[in-house]
Amino acid sequence: MKTFTPRTFAIPELQGISKKSIDEHIKLYQGYVKHANLILEKIAEMSKDIATVEANTYVLGELQRRFGFEFDGMKNHEYYFEQFEGGVNQDVVTLKTAIEEEWGSFDAWCARFKAVGLTRGIGWAILSYDKVNDRLVHSWVDEQHLGQLNSVDIILALDMWEHSYLFDYVPADKKKYIDAFFENLNWETVEKRFVSVRVSK
Ligand SMILES: [Fe+2]
Repeated sequence: MKTFTPRTFAIPELQGISKKSIDEHIKLYQGYVKHANLILEKIAEMSKDIATVEANTYVLGELQRRFGFEFDGMKNHEYYFEQFEGGVNQDVVTLKTAIEEEWGSFDAWCARFKAVGLTRGIGWAILSYDKVNDRLVHSWVDEQHLGQLNSVDIILALDMWEHSYLFDYVPADKKKYIDAFFENLNWETVEKRFVSVRVSK
């Protein structure tokens, strides 16, 4: 049976997000990978024949439901951590133009995206590209999976679970964590995601 393999990330020293926070956060990411694998193993075990499927109907249903949580938790974190690799790069060119077309200005977009990040509860602020309609869209994802948009490509992912900032900030100061997230971004990585999928050239 195939398994998902946890990725490693070469994350440099960040400003405003401690090494301790990143190290502990990576362990949580590895947990999502482990549990995504475990769920598929358990589903396979319980699906050996009709009798085991019938005997485990509810368990199988719940396992399948939770797979969305673990799988998206794995993927979300891979988008998140790779945005810090390679060091800070604040040059946004192609994506900036697309952002300006959608939100008027880069600053206006940034304020909107940060506001999405401040949504009450745990989850993710995500900027995605809908290639069918050639436009950028925001989403707030509860937990790891509830509210993920269909058929879009993730361009920028901001983890707003408390575990991503509690070593460095109290919850009332999560705005500071969002600012730190932006200060440490390698926009080259973010931009590459957009350039590789955009329709209009
Ligand atoms: Fe996280």
